[in-house]
Amino acid sequence: MKISLSSGKSISASPSASVFDSLKKEDIFLTSSCGGKGTCGKCRIIIKSGSFNTRSKTKLSKDEIKKGYSLACQTFPEGDLLIEIPKESMLTVEGKIATGRSKDLQLLFRSAGAEIEPLTERVLIQLPPPSLNDNISDLERLKRELFSKGLGCLRVPFRFLTDLAKTVRKNNWEITLCTIHSEECNEITNIFPGNRKTPRYGIAIDIGTTTLVVYLIDLITGNLVDIASTYNSQIQFGDDVITRIVHATERGGLKDLNKTVIADINIFLSLFRKTRKINPDSIDQIVIAGNTTMTHLFLGLDPSAIREEPYIPTANNFPLGFAGELGIKTNPNTPIYVFPCVASYVGGDIVSGVLAAGLHKKKELSLFMDIGTNGEIVLGNSEWLVAAACSAGPCFEGSGIKHGMRATEGAIEGIRINRDTLDPEIKVIGNGIQPTGICGSGMIDAVAEMFLSEILNQKGKLQKDISSRVRQGENGLEFVVYSDKVKDIVLTEPDIENIIRAKAAIYAGFSILLKEVGYTFEDVHRVYIAGGFGKFLDIEKAIILGMLPDLPREKFEYMGNTSIAGAYLCSLSRRMRQEAEEIAKKMTYLELSVSRSFMDEYVSGLFIPHTNMSFFPNVRKLMKK
Ligand code: FES
Repeated sequence: MKISLSSGKSISASPSASVFDSLKKEDIFLTSSCGGKGTCGKCRIIIKSGSFNTRSKTKLSKDEIKKGYSLACQTFPEGDLLIEIPKESMLTVEGKIATGRSKDLQLLFRSAGAEIEPLTERVLIQLPPPSLNDNISDLERLKRELFSKGLGCLRVPFRFLTDLAKTVRKNNWEITLCTIHSEECNEITNIFPGNRKTPRYGIAIDIGTTTLVVYLIDLITGNLVDIASTYNSQIQFGDDVITRIVHATERGGLKDLNKTVIADINIFLSLFRKTRKINPDSIDQIVIAGNTTMTHLFLGLDPSAIREEPYIPTANNFPLGFAGELGIKTNPNTPIYVFPCVASYVGGDIVSGVLAAGLHKKKELSLFMDIGTNGEIVLGNSEWLVAAACSAGPCFEGSGIKHGMRATEGAIEGIRINRDTLDPEIKVIGNGIQPTGICGSGMIDAVAEMFLSEILNQKGKLQKDISSRVRQGENGLEFVVYSDKVKDIVLTEPDIENIIRAKAAIYAGFSILLKEVGYTFEDVHRVYIAGGFGKFLDIEKAIILGMLPDLPREKFEYMGNTSIAGAYLCSLSRRMRQEAEEIAKKMTYLELSVSRSFMDEYVSGLFIPHTNMSFFPNVRKLMKK
């Protein structure tokens, strides 16, 4: 039995394996956030011919079923199949996007005054071959050579002894050592025969609750070679950190969660190997930034105490690990640096974000906000840093929104609505690409524009007869953002409610943190916004929505995904890694959930932009217009 793809490739199949699993076996990975349970609806394929049975179609509309769509994880072949994989279902790397992003990151790197000094170094050594007159052992020979090169204090771990005899003889006594810096004595992390000084790559990973982003970095030039991103497959065990922690406390739960995130990372390493022809031995290091729970789950640490008062993580600072110990499929001796965390709800992703924003070096008071599944806020300057967290939910990352998606190719990232015709004009990520969904910045634009066009009222309810684009859908009223022969992209009323809840939590977080430390929005010199919105976030629209305060627009700076940007900086620079450690030590955590006024502030924010319009004078003016 076989499955043929419309691209011409054929793979073998069996009636007991889903199409999703058969494709995976051949290194063809589909987008998924439910781990193949049939609940996320992301693994859509189109069946062109052949017989099959499906276990669940609940995530497909009647229209899609008519057009031949099926969920790959729920489709089992009963004979040969011919299928098409739509672009949005395919997990790929994003080489083209990486080129532009690389320039921005190198600029950030230079402006931080950092120099390329990765976690590891490669040293080429030519050993003198032994003779009857020079008959010391291979290890002594290596140590003698290191000493003569001024590298005397270099620890040789026991695990290298097994193959040392073979390695040194393989290329005429020429070897390349990979070493890692440490305060007391550097350590060898790999020994290769011959000259293996180049190429050298680093992997930087941002493990978000909803999204996983992986960078492949050239450690010699600092260039970003490729980017890959997908949903964190742990979503199948719950949308937020609390449900994941609860799952981790159940039998085998921690293992499930740990295995899932490691499997996601391994998929990307295999994609890089395939598309970029990367030899695992040329990957010298891995740097990980994630919130405290994600960091615990990645390392296989029990996170249960994180959710119980007094909210204590197993560790905030992590010793260096190795790929082999953690199940990462690359050279097992590759060292892994994990960003330090601050507290149970402020993790390494925020330390990384503050590092990228440079908040810890500014004299003036600044506010940093990372909008992800959890909204984390940091207030401070070069003297002090205070952090807090509020749960925004995963909607801005595309989860829980009917046609939501991450900010990757095909995502609608910007929307303008013509005030006369009420027709939207859309901006899509990728050149001339047909839209496949809507990402966070598109959602913010859409809701703000629908509000200004009176398609939506202050409570977030759609106005039924205002336009033919407002129609009755399967989940109540919906607004058609885009439509072509194959599909419609809509925002439903439940989607809009989700977006309003998220923005209310974020605004409440800002306001309460400032109040708690005795400041007002007017005292803030600069506001740095981070999040996976892609290249673009319209600050004006975020203010109209009531997600950001109504401050002069020049105070805001949108920085994109700062967690991965900080991980990039630390992949390349020792000084940046030291600064990250200092930021984590300096930051004080403030628990907002114990503040009574947080809930009041949240409820007031469940309007567009806010129940108290005096907080949004400029939006009021716009509304009057
Ligand atoms: Fe198939 Fe989620 S529905 S992977």
